[in-house]
Amino acid sequence: MVKKNTCIFISGNGSNLKNLILSSRSSNFPIKVSLVICNNINANGIIYAKKYNIPYIFVNTKFKNHENKIFYYLKKYKISFICLAGYMKIVSKKLIKKYQRKIINVHPSLLPKFKGLNTFARMLKNKEIKAGCTVHYVSEKLDSGIAIVQKKFFIDKEDDEKVLKNKTQKLEYLAFPEAIIKVFRA
Ligand code: GRF
Repeated sequence: MVKKNTCIFISGNGSNLKNLILSSRSSNFPIKVSLVICNNINANGIIYAKKYNIPYIFVNTKFKNHENKIFYYLKKYKISFICLAGYMKIVSKKLIKKYQRKIINVHPSLLPKFKGLNTFARMLKNKEIKAGCTVHYVSEKLDSGIAIVQKKFFIDKEDDEKVLKNKTQKLEYLAFPEAIIKVFRA
């Protein structure tokens, strides 16, 4: 199997990055993590790029032309697929157009519910019964692309934001690899 050269975009902790790196080690997983792009110099996730010898670059999204750097490296590493894994920046229309149906994102809610930030606080405030995660194609509208995989759980009375986050992330570690397999099987 020829694996697709994939770039993972991160901003923070990088637990999904780590999970995707480990998944991609299996011979029949469709992607190879070939590059990590990070917009936060203090992101913990970079330790996984270092540990597993994956090239990584930092971009400063405050600079207007930072996307030129992104495009340069995507080309250099022959990237044909992109995963946004906790990337806290909206990607440009240009990038989405270039990688149409080739960029996916993981979001910590059952989309279309709770797009955007602070999902867990809003769920609790709303007295939701269920929570979960969605892996979806990235489109020009925030958190609105077609869903690929969704996983849910019932919220317990005692669950606070921290617990919801833990439970959601456990599902993300299943949903993200599953979604990638689904994308390439289609
Ligand atoms: C994930 O929970 C994801 O849903 C959200 O950002 C978080 C990133 O976590 N988009 P990590 O950096 O992969 O640990």
